[in-house]
Amino acid sequence: RYAITQREASAEILPGVRTPLWTYEGTFPGPTIESRRGRPVTVTHRNELPVPTVVHLHGGRTPAASDGYPTDLVLPEGWHEPATHVQPASGHSMQGMQSMQSMQGMHDPRAVVSTLTRDYTFPLDQRPTLLWYHDHRMDFTAPAIWRGLAGLQIVRDDAEDALGLPAGQRELPLMIADRAFAADGSLAYPALDPTLREQPGVSDPYLAGVLGDVILVNGAPWPVHEVDAARYRLRILNASNARHYELEAVTDDGRRLDLVQIGADQGLLAAPVTHHVLPMAPAERYDVIVDFSGVAIGSRVRVVNRLGSGRTRDVMAFRVARNATDGSRIPRVLSDDLPAWRRSDAVRVRKFSFRTGRMRGGHGWLIGGLPFDPGRSDVTVGLGDVEVWRLVADVHHPVHLHLVGFRVLSRSGRPPLPHDAGLKDTVSLRPGETVEIITRFDGYRGRYLFHCHNAEHEDMGMMANLEII
Ligand code: C2O
Ligand code: CU
Ligand code: CU
Repeated sequence: RYAITQREASAEILPGVRTPLWTYEGTFPGPTIESRRGRPVTVTHRNELPVPTVVHLHGGRTPAASDGYPTDLVLPEGWHEPATHVQPASGHSMQGMQSMQSMQGMHDPRAVVSTLTRDYTFPLDQRPTLLWYHDHRMDFTAPAIWRGLAGLQIVRDDAEDALGLPAGQRELPLMIADRAFAADGSLAYPALDPTLREQPGVSDPYLAGVLGDVILVNGAPWPVHEVDAARYRLRILNASNARHYELEAVTDDGRRLDLVQIGADQGLLAAPVTHHVLPMAPAERYDVIVDFSGVAIGSRVRVVNRLGSGRTRDVMAFRVARNATDGSRIPRVLSDDLPAWRRSDAVRVRKFSFRTGRMRGGHGWLIGGLPFDPGRSDVTVGLGDVEVWRLVADVHHPVHLHLVGFRVLSRSGRPPLPHDAGLKDTVSLRPGETVEIITRFDGYRGRYLFHCHNAEHEDMGMMANLEII
């Protein structure tokens, strides 16, 4: 059981100025929740922010009632929703109202379930991996995450513990997120600097997604972390709203260290995959071993984003401080429980386009030509069905499915890329690409989502309902 209060706080992120934040428990990122496979965790969230919120555990195999549907809000005290939303009777115990509705399995999107506090229950009956929790309010996810509403949750099990991977001080969760700041230290959303817009010439500062010119890792700008000359397990999350990375680890003498990938969004690979450059789209996680043992003591290894320029090229650095013994290993077989769905297992092939288009009188981002509507049913699948989804992109779209992990089958008719290995919950569609994924919709019945995880695209409509019946 955990209790998390969502509240305003401030932190000295840039030297000499304070940055006001929206936080889980007063910090950015929020507290890291350590959990064990199959051991349910209940997190009681209390909303003391000035706005409604809703919590989603990204990558969690979670019953719909706790999955953080975008209109399933935790309202702050005294909040009044526009009249289009159904309000609980005033004076009624808000919490009682909410638990009553969730017991009845009510999930009418038009009925705002209002609470000051809310229990989210996560069974965590799933492969061990790095998850993250973040805000998911309809149309307001991107600014809420930008202001600080994101945190990590780690799921472990005995089998993974027994592998002998680097652990303890040598296992580092790294949440990478770019932000822009005003001179007084406050977060600028969107960035004031027009050169940061991903598509120059695009006049809407939100359309391509919001970028920052400061790279934060675990909330600190360009940190330098002291390490032993040994193997480290880096559990990397791209928590940026819109920024893509191509990560390299470069020594002072210009050598590129191997990035040995051992895990993807949904846990361990079958066998390690070695990269020199690791592409990361928003919301993707990569579990990577880096060996600092061949690096000169006292020198640095810089983690660089090949897609960045100027100061956004640097992400962080490791200073190799001392020689050390290393009892860790990277087993040649990491896991043997990866689902091996084949095309012939699929009962259906669906096709979805992820494209820009007109919505609400302006420009937005659409799936299958439509912007998100919580009242519309988009996709209905049978519990246990295996399906192939063909995802077609105009520009870059990292596509995320709630509840299930999937495997990448192909990219524009060609085999998946090396970093597509394993079980994923977010896949990066590159411009003009058609990506096929395969999954089994199992676990729970109920209403879930799939969407682009460019957070601005998500808020501008690129999300759809996925109903499992
Ligand atoms: Cu990480 Cu639906 O979100
Ligand atoms: Cu998710
Ligand atoms: Cu997108």
